[in-house]
Amino acid sequence: MSNIPKHIGVIMDGNGRWAKRRGLPRSAGHKAGADNLEKICDYCNSLGVKALTVYAFSTENWNRPKAEIDALMELLYNYLLTVEEKFRNRNMKLQISGDVTALSEKIQKAIVHAEEVTSSGDGMILNIALNYGGRAEIVNAARKSAEDVKSGKIRPEDIDEDYLGRYMYTSNLPEVDLIIRPSGEKRLSNFLLWQAAYAEFWYSDICWPDFGNDDMKQAILDYQNRDRRFGGV
Ligand code: IPE
Ligand code: IPE
Ligand code: MG
Repeated sequence: MSNIPKHIGVIMDGNGRWAKRRGLPRSAGHKAGADNLEKICDYCNSLGVKALTVYAFSTENWNRPKAEIDALMELLYNYLLTVEEKFRNRNMKLQISGDVTALSEKIQKAIVHAEEVTSSGDGMILNIALNYGGRAEIVNAARKSAEDVKSGKIRPEDIDEDYLGRYMYTSNLPEVDLIIRPSGEKRLSNFLLWQAAYAEFWYSDICWPDFGNDDMKQAILDYQNRDRRFGGV
């Protein structure tokens, strides 16, 4: 496989429906989804994907029942505790994108630790979009640019796509080539709005916990047959 997408975004959707179909609580679906992430991570890393951004919790997911949010946060915390050991052999690096200040102190500390201990990894970057919203990200970039103008660092006319782009969470990552959404939904739900400008899309009816390496391979093979013109002919 050549022409591997450098940066893949995945909206890890369908955990709840996966669980419901099995007569399980939604939290069991989230656990199965987290387990699946490990498998897909290994697969993408082995293919030479540079960055994998996965949507784990949106700025809108606070609208869910508290018990479900608590279960998701607990799952996330437990995952963060395993990162140091798991990522070491794989040479992977962890990055979190989103407003982490709204998360508990315990989780914030675990994030800092996990990012720090994996920072020298030169394999794939797993970028977890957490309390992430594409609109919030753009608003944040606009605000920071406005502050730069106010402090005299730049003039308004200096603000261009590159300038604003540097304030996006993904500024250190390659352009997003491919966005995948399993579970049958065909919308972005506020994921990577800025970065999606020229990304290719792949949808699948399979719920995330069942989205396997073969499905990922199919998405990548399809991506490789796309004609990406970027506005040209
Ligand atoms: C995605 O699965 C996980 C999160 C949003 C945290 P869902 O929980 O949205 O699963 P469905 O869409 O209800 O099946
Ligand atoms: C998007 O899924 C967010 C994540 C997968 C983390 P949702 O299930 O929250 O999106 P909607 O509500 O169906 O648009
Ligand atoms: Mg959903």
